[in-house]
Amino acid sequence: MATEQTPSTFERALHEAAAILSAARRPVVLTGAGISKESGIPTFRDALDGLWAQVDPMKLATPQAFRRDPALVWRFYEYRRERMRPARPNPGHIALAALEHRFPALHIITQNVDDLHEQAGSTRIVRLHGKISANRCSLDCRGLPTPVDLSQLSDEQRAETPPHCPYCGGYVRPDVVWFNEMLPSDALNRAQQLAQQADVMLVVGTSGVVYPAAGLPALTRKAGGRLIEINPVVSELTPTMDIWLEGASGIVLPRLVEHLEKDNTLDA
Ligand code: OAD
Repeated sequence: MATEQTPSTFERALHEAAAILSAARRPVVLTGAGISKESGIPTFRDALDGLWAQVDPMKLATPQAFRRDPALVWRFYEYRRERMRPARPNPGHIALAALEHRFPALHIITQNVDDLHEQAGSTRIVRLHGKISANRCSLDCRGLPTPVDLSQLSDEQRAETPPHCPYCGGYVRPDVVWFNEMLPSDALNRAQQLAQQADVMLVVGTSGVVYPAAGLPALTRKAGGRLIEINPVVSELTPTMDIWLEGASGIVLPRLVEHLEKDNTLDA
């Protein structure tokens, strides 16, 4: 099991990680809620402050909860969207966008539902759990998914909790994956393909407890790729990693990019 890192072991690990990454041809990055923590978005293990502190989000983000009380679940997501609105990419997101320029094959596979990777300039992104700013018909009346653009609704229609689908009148829901739901198959197939083809996977800010996302590093390992984790604490995946860089991604990722630049392997 990995142990606490001292500054010197951290620097050695960082140097080794940079050497592995600079030799990579098909790196892939798996991100979790931890990469957005420094942008002010709570992870799933942070106590949600204010109104929802006493509500377990794991009990709200389910199809059953939506069927039972659509208004409550809709309000929960409106609260999370409100809370996410001021969030901006942090140096970790920006470092990954810089890596995309350095590695033409680099893709990000994210479990996150915020859009901070896009805001930072990353373009090759596979979304496993959807996007909280998007909505769809809860009946997918025009096929899975049936996107619903709330800006096309009138003010009073938008004020309903939840609003109604303009095509079938069913409830609108956030376009995110809930517990007990399947992931979008095209995104999952693409993520598994990328993990199998990767020669290096950076695993950033995930506890590694939710599958199938948490199973992706094992696919890279099985195909002979190397695994590097960035997390301030040991996760479920740390024991399977080649390198664990102990620290916040907003600090460690820019250090990793800096190391690559020092080796002059980043484009000037
Ligand atoms: P978690 O909240 O389970 O784990 C967040 C991870 O980020 C933890 O391992 C923290 O130690 C780490 N972390 C905290 N601060 C960090 C920082 N500054 N830099 C780097 N890492 C940091 O979030 P996820 O692993 O993303 O699923 O959760 C996976 C899934 O569980 C989510 O996508 C969601 C949830 O249920 C769905 O919504 C379907």
